[in-house]
Amino acid sequence: MGQSRISTHLGLLQDAGLVQSRREGKRTFYKLNSQAAGMEAEFVQLAIRGAKELPEQSSDEIKLRRILNRRREQAQVYFNQLAGRFDRVYGPGRSWQAFVHLLLRILPPLAVAYLGAGEGLLSELLARRCKKVIAVDNSEKIVAFGAAKAKKNHLKNLEFRLGDLQNPPVEPESVDLAILSQALHHAHEPGLAIAAAYKIMKAGGQIMILDLAKHNFDRARELYGDRWLGFAESDLHRWLEAAGFKKIEINVVAREDQPPHFETVLAGGQK
Ligand SMILES: C[S@@+](CC[C@H](N)C(=O)[O-])C[C@H]1O[C@@H](n2cnc3c(N)ncnc32)[C@H](O)[C@@H]1O
Repeated sequence: MGQSRISTHLGLLQDAGLVQSRREGKRTFYKLNSQAAGMEAEFVQLAIRGAKELPEQSSDEIKLRRILNRRREQAQVYFNQLAGRFDRVYGPGRSWQAFVHLLLRILPPLAVAYLGAGEGLLSELLARRCKKVIAVDNSEKIVAFGAAKAKKNHLKNLEFRLGDLQNPPVEPESVDLAILSQALHHAHEPGLAIAAAYKIMKAGGQIMILDLAKHNFDRARELYGDRWLGFAESDLHRWLEAAGFKKIEINVVAREDQPPHFETVLAGGQK
């Protein structure tokens, strides 16, 4: 039967109280009315007995089981096909931003200095969790934009300050965490910037530096205004150690698929 005739028949059966329906999006699922009573219940029983006597009954049962099993397995088949490349394909609702929110939930309420902060992508995420976030940048326009956005978003604990990485306008020994993300390669003297971060941190505080690994893509200077073409892990280690940091840990944490295949280094240490 065509779809419209089936719908008409099902509609009549429902009006008579013999079937029930349930909507899921654009679909409607019908089943025999299990709550039917009296005359309707007798009709339902009669329909079941009648169906059992049909020659197609056993093959219909098998087909039904196969269809239900296939539906159940659909999700499994989908993920099995994606195995090995799952992290690289689109997944509804999956984003780095969402993962960051998850990780922030387990962060204690820290006082943070974000040095070379940019406009607020990470500062705002941090401010939703941290006690205080001081975002330092030497671009007047960026500081003004970031501050206005923080105000608009009612983030009272996020403060933008105009200043330099090498002498950040943050009180000595006042923060638990200092972050430099893609900022160190803009500093005149990266070692000085790391030493300056040490000064503003409380004892036991952590520094986290995300920057590019040393590369040869010279055009980064004109394209992105970079002063340094990334850093060797040994240089970062030397500067961190010279500043006084302990428990230094440095790893490459990401590599871009497209040329020039920039690599991101995460360097951390404790005061
Ligand atoms: C590549 S952006 C990174 C922004 C942000 N940290 C991020 O990861 O999205 C570099 C930022 O550092 C700032 N900057 C560059 N040199 C600086 C310096 N000497 N002192 C403070 N900020 C600086 C720039 O204005 C810019 O906002």
